[in-house]
Amino acid sequence: MTARAPLGRVLAVVSQKGGVGKTTTAVNLAAAFARRGLKTLIIDTDPQGAVRYGVGLRRGHATAGFADWLRGGVPLREVILPTQLPWLRALLVGSVSDEASHDDYVQRAMDPRHLGELVQVARERCQVVILDTPPGLGGIVRTALAVSQHAIVPLQCEPLALQTTPQILRGIQEVAAVNDDLALLALEGILLTMYQAGNPACERTVGYVRQHMPANLVLDTIIPRTTAAPRTTAAAEAFAAGLPVVMRDPGDAAAQAYVNLAMTLAERFA
Ligand SMILES: Nc1ncnc2c1ncn2[C@@H]1O[C@H](COP(=O)(O)OP(=O)(O)O)[C@@H](O)[C@H]1O
Ligand SMILES: [Mg+2]
Repeated sequence: MTARAPLGRVLAVVSQKGGVGKTTTAVNLAAAFARRGLKTLIIDTDPQGAVRYGVGLRRGHATAGFADWLRGGVPLREVILPTQLPWLRALLVGSVSDEASHDDYVQRAMDPRHLGELVQVARERCQVVILDTPPGLGGIVRTALAVSQHAIVPLQCEPLALQTTPQILRGIQEVAAVNDDLALLALEGILLTMYQAGNPACERTVGYVRQHMPANLVLDTIIPRTTAAPRTTAAAEAFAAGLPVVMRDPGDAAAQAYVNLAMTLAERFA
């Protein structure tokens, strides 16, 4: 009998709101897992396609991706791209119509047979698969959750962010309730992002979340906001230069927080 390697774990990064740090979290976690030596694939399912700008792709990389594979005719091996980290691969969203409506892409991407097949292939080859998602709880996000075993919910440290959190948590519970046992979904927790020590609104938000949410629903790691101060300029530049801060400036506080988070999650995955 030949022993088969266990299937990789799939982690979806989801939130009701945009601009809360989903893509930043997805690419930095992916880089942190890859730096731990885990074979990692990040898949961009968001038609905005922001993973492309921050995952450390090599110059002159192909731009085809998930959408092109969904339309048929493009094999996965042509759209799964190498990055500057040996253990990290990226599947960009690819060519999604520039028109305001992405209906065609959305219809295909939310079909669980397609994403299910892709994720199955990825899990056979990689130890960690990270899904970056569009904001909200639309079809793509529900399907992403349905094929995942783990989810995290970034919550930007600002009071308004609290209003939409119950919605996304309910959505995750709904998906978890209908998932079959092949893909049991665990909410790993809320991840507080863009934290600024000494900022009263920020501190209030963290205090509120810690006080009102069950402790096991809030991750201990908090991601600080990287600022324009000299110590962290490299982090801001890293976004512009297309590298996750974890790769560009490992000493940065946000980079270290992502590395810690990857360690916590890797322990839970084991
Ligand atoms: N820890 C952080 N420090 C500084 N800027 C951040 C941090 N996390 C995210 N950002 C910035 O905030 C904006 C939104 O983040 P992003 O990850 O794109 O959010 P989302 O994917 O949820 O829309 C981006 O400009 C990103 O560079
Ligand atoms: Mg994003």
